Amino acid sequence: MPRLQGKLCVVTGGSRGIGRALCQAFSNEGATVILTDIDREAGQHSADALGCRFMPLDVRAEADWAALAKQVPACDVLVNNAGITGFESATGPHDPEHASLADWRAVHATNLDGTFLGCRYAIGAMKAKGTGSIINVSSRSGLVGIPGAAAYASSKAAVRNHTKSVALYCAQNGWAIRCNSLHPAAILTEMWDAMLGDGPDRAERMAAFVADTPLRRFGTVAEVAAVAVMLASDEAAYVTGAEFNVDGGLLAGSAASPG
Ligand SMILES: NC(=O)c1ccc[n+]([C@@H]2O[C@H](COP(=O)([O-])OP(=O)(O)OC[C@H]3O[C@@H](n4cnc5c(N)ncnc54)[C@H](O)[C@@H]3O)[C@@H](O)[C@H]2O)c1
Repeated sequence: MPRLQGKLCVVTGGSRGIGRALCQAFSNEGATVILTDIDREAGQHSADALGCRFMPLDVRAEADWAALAKQVPACDVLVNNAGITGFESATGPHDPEHASLADWRAVHATNLDGTFLGCRYAIGAMKAKGTGSIINVSSRSGLVGIPGAAAYASSKAAVRNHTKSVALYCAQNGWAIRCNSLHPAAILTEMWDAMLGDGPDRAERMAAFVADTPLRRFGTVAEVAAVAVMLASDEAAYVTGAEFNVDGGLLAGSAASPG
């Protein structure tokens, strides 16, 4: 029996990377999937390939969420997956001393405002039934400081905390609407291209990035999706306000004393 049979799942940032893998895994488990993304062309392309329905949605735009609520007034699962590091547009450094306010705000607008708006939509779309699963994709960077990506780390830490507020709010209201956060690290997607480049030293750079990861490799998008399937399913009916690391063991110990 497919684990998500009969469920309507909405995924943000679904056109590539982790989001696309989530859409694929949810479809494989029998769900009806609405793949959303800011990138219309790539989103439509991925949705067609996976047999999902595509809807354009910029997670920063309140009007886009209102349009989704109109067209999809009820859903069972929402994954707030869309996110940016801020390095994609690379206007300058992202450390606490030199980051520009514009860059800081841009990262928070997508990662944090987008997640807030998504949770707000999902509560409205789930409360009539009184059940549902909201999955917020945070990061390992939401649990530790990252000097060179301060805005990203701050936004992901706020996503972790907002997850718990949403979980408690829903429980207080007597709804079995669960909200949990995922904390991936070093999952090989296009998000890494700005950091790894495509030059002859790419393999060397990749090895350097995972040198402190106990499992000594990048993770795959399917490995993140597998955990999300569990959280989306009724198998996780007693799991809310929790955080799940998908990081090859990185957060299990200190990189400073790996032995
Ligand atoms: N890849 C990793 O190692 C890693 C690690 C930790 C956390 N994460 C998180 O996982 C999520 C997915 O990461 P990924 O590696 O697949 O990234 P990615 O860059 O490959 O894909 C991100 C997707 O989000 C979409 N997007 C960007 N801005 C958007 C917006 N305003 N509205 C709607 N869609 C938007 C993009 O078009 C793209 O399809 C992100 O939240 C990211 O922070 C990734």
